[in-house]
Amino acid sequence: MPHKPMRLRRSQLAVPGVSEKMLTKAAASKADHVFCDLEDAVAPSAKAGARETIVDALNHLDWGETVRCVRVNDIGTPWCHEDIITVVEKAGKNIDTIMLPKPLNASDVQFADTLLTQLEMKLGLERKIGLEVLIEEVEAMQNVAEIATSCERLECMIFGMGDYAASQGLVMKNIGDTQGYPGDIFHYPRYQMTIAARAAGLDAVDGPFVDFNNLEAYKVECQRSLMLGMVGKWAIHPAQIEPALDIFSPTQEDVDFAREVIAVYEKAAGEGLGSVGHKGVMVDAASARLFQNTVNRADLIGM
Ligand code: COA
Ligand code: MG
Repeated sequence: MPHKPMRLRRSQLAVPGVSEKMLTKAAASKADHVFCDLEDAVAPSAKAGARETIVDALNHLDWGETVRCVRVNDIGTPWCHEDIITVVEKAGKNIDTIMLPKPLNASDVQFADTLLTQLEMKLGLERKIGLEVLIEEVEAMQNVAEIATSCERLECMIFGMGDYAASQGLVMKNIGDTQGYPGDIFHYPRYQMTIAARAAGLDAVDGPFVDFNNLEAYKVECQRSLMLGMVGKWAIHPAQIEPALDIFSPTQEDVDFAREVIAVYEKAAGEGLGSVGHKGVMVDAASARLFQNTVNRADLIGM
């Protein structure tokens, strides 16, 4: 498996590329990752101007450690190629990743990959720009494994439940809110995408929850995606940043316990034992492997 750059994506903040004010707030926010949007948050007549606003924000704001991402338009639009060319030519050194919405298959992603490779050569960029894709069409969900392995540049897949719901014909009032469906209506697509992401060594991230005043329901959605192996969730409003940072970070207690279990296992293995009891629970190689995930997350966060 190729080595991917490790980036935090506990909270990915969406910011309309037309808003200098929101871009400024986003750069100063605590979100791990900000995506400056050229797609749905920008009207067709404002796309060209938004590219310049985003370039300016990337080049002149202090982003600290924040992952700087630009969401471009999809390859079925007249804007995609120019979005990528303009932002990379004018701000390539200050872009960590490009987010591509609505790919249907591997070749859609390879279009963006090839264009980025050409631009990196032309501009002599030393640092490769990563790719993130939104899985938000039923065709993409059917092709999710081929999309996950479409190119080495790909780092992350995001489940985009708004467009996905429309694509499948799901009935819902607020995007992201499962509203009384018996069980979790997004369980299957989240699960399927997370399996494909993990198998390809990518981050799986959960998409938007638009009812931004309902933080209790937002937290439930974070918790569900966390349990499935996702590493973060979108924020469409600053109020959603802290809850996601909190839920997608292990507690110090979780980390201490994970290290303890691994130590117990290693000691037992050193004494020739495969499994031992610890605080009333069996610990074996699988436990050590499971808890290693917590330790890896803690290391990435710097806990
Ligand atoms: N990023 C940065 N700052 C944001 C923000 C965002 N996504 N959303 C809101 N803010 C700022 C507002 O500008 C406001 O700043 P102020 O206090 O200095 O005036 C503050 O946070 C509080 O915002 P609030 O008044 O509660 O909301 P609003 O009515 O200004 O904005 C939305 C509501 C939904 C229009 C706005 O949150 C938004 O545009 N979200 C992102 C939309 C998007 O990117 N969609 C595409 C991906 S799904
Ligand atoms: Mg979408």
